[in-house]
Amino acid sequence: MISFLDKAVLQFDRALQTLVPHAAKATRPSPANTLEEAELDQVERKHSSGLMRINHTGEVCAQALYAGQATTAKLATVRQEMEHAADEEIDHLVWCEQRLYDLGSKPSILNPLFYGASFMIGAGAGLISDKLSLGFVAATEDQVCIHLQKHMAALPMQDAKSKAVLTQMHIDEAKHKAMALEAGGYEFPQPIMAIMTQVSKVMTITTYRI
Ligand SMILES: [Fe+2]
Ligand SMILES: [Fe+2]
Repeated sequence: MISFLDKAVLQFDRALQTLVPHAAKATRPSPANTLEEAELDQVERKHSSGLMRINHTGEVCAQALYAGQATTAKLATVRQEMEHAADEEIDHLVWCEQRLYDLGSKPSILNPLFYGASFMIGAGAGLISDKLSLGFVAATEDQVCIHLQKHMAALPMQDAKSKAVLTQMHIDEAKHKAMALEAGGYEFPQPIMAIMTQVSKVMTITTYRI
């Protein structure tokens, strides 16, 4: 049996992997790799960086949510699928980070804060029930898909590299959402989704800049 201390060490390692630059390793190459770097002026570069920083923080939150949930939820039938989804989130995290550095920028300094908050939400929901916990995954992925769609339209036209990353992410996140719902995730009512949209606004407004 894994002791509490072992679990704590594993969790700490996972948090470090998410928060320390260049620490995580992707299993799939970035969709941006095969594309040419576009010419961006200063304003466009800043805008692309801001959007990719938001998406990177979104992936930090996803890591923390899955990690929190894994510590408390039973997930008897879907643990493997959830772990596979979490691996795909690591790809997203690494791709966004790499893109940020290529744009001459860096991840948000607020990431440890968002990691902590998301971990608590994941662990808290998992404690209550798997249905709620999976519902949170579905609702979060839904929010992420909305952001990704907005960001794909808002990126500078010629920034094909960033767009390629977001396109593959959108495919994966839609899959994660469907998986969480199929596994019995609770579909959150509209008022709850509206609150989640407000909370995610706090994240996007702050991390676009810092
Ligand atoms: Fe993701
Ligand atoms: Fe996802």
